[in-house]
Amino acid sequence: MVNPYNDSELGKKQQVAEMFNAIAPKYDFLNHWLSFGIDKLWRKKAIRLLRPYKPKNILDVATGTGDFALEAMKLDPTKIIGLDISEGMMKIAAEKINKLQLEDTISFEVGDSEDMRFETRSIDAITVGFGVRNFEHLEQGLSEFHRVLNDGGVACVLEFSKPRSFPVKQLYNFYSYYILPLWGRLISKDNRAYTYLPESVSAFPDGEDFIQVLKKVGFSSVKEYRLTFGIATIYFAMK
Ligand SMILES: C[S@@+](CC[C@H](N)C(=O)[O-])C[C@H]1O[C@@H](n2cnc3c(N)ncnc32)[C@H](O)[C@@H]1O
Repeated sequence: MVNPYNDSELGKKQQVAEMFNAIAPKYDFLNHWLSFGIDKLWRKKAIRLLRPYKPKNILDVATGTGDFALEAMKLDPTKIIGLDISEGMMKIAAEKINKLQLEDTISFEVGDSEDMRFETRSIDAITVGFGVRNFEHLEQGLSEFHRVLNDGGVACVLEFSKPRSFPVKQLYNFYSYYILPLWGRLISKDNRAYTYLPESVSAFPDGEDFIQVLKKVGFSSVKEYRLTFGIATIYFAMK
């Protein structure tokens, strides 16, 4: 298992929460800057793909600073709940929502996606952006997605994947192992967060391997949409 801090005695979940609390104030800036703003286009595309499902009750798992939850407002939902284990990240999210006066529709709560308080079959759609890679127990988290979704509900998972073709694969590896950790360390002041990122992407199942995990926990059909030469992928898992 790839953990944020190799020398820590804490479990992965606590380490992840600690890491995101530490980098929260710089997270949005680094995210948009290091991805040249492409991360925003990926979330937009994911929400566009969700439109035909007309979900009213949305759960944004691993909501972080809330950008996916905010984008999901375009679906005209009745309610969006953002869930995360990092209070630091959600503090930034709550500030954005307050500024936009969206508190009636979007709310945030501290919670673990591997053990959610929501009732079985109570959610129309789950969104999760760059979150599942950080789960301590991936199958447990995805089983929870399946449990809380209504029949016919959909989990929309946006996650980094590994480009496969030359020369994108080589360029991407150079960028993510050498350039990204350097800037990440300088700006976030966290020595590990942006080294953990490429390491965790490399260790995480993508494409068909991830689809098999989604099917194993009970999703009946899964579609994948590879984005920007396979740097990220949207998975649509139907219950
Ligand atoms: C890379 S950030 C993604 C934030 C946001 N979804 C986005 O699109 O930018 C990953 C988030 O996952 C959260 N996270 C990791 N494991 C979690 C878990 N088991 N339950 C809830 N949130 C979790 C972290 O605290 C962090 O805020």
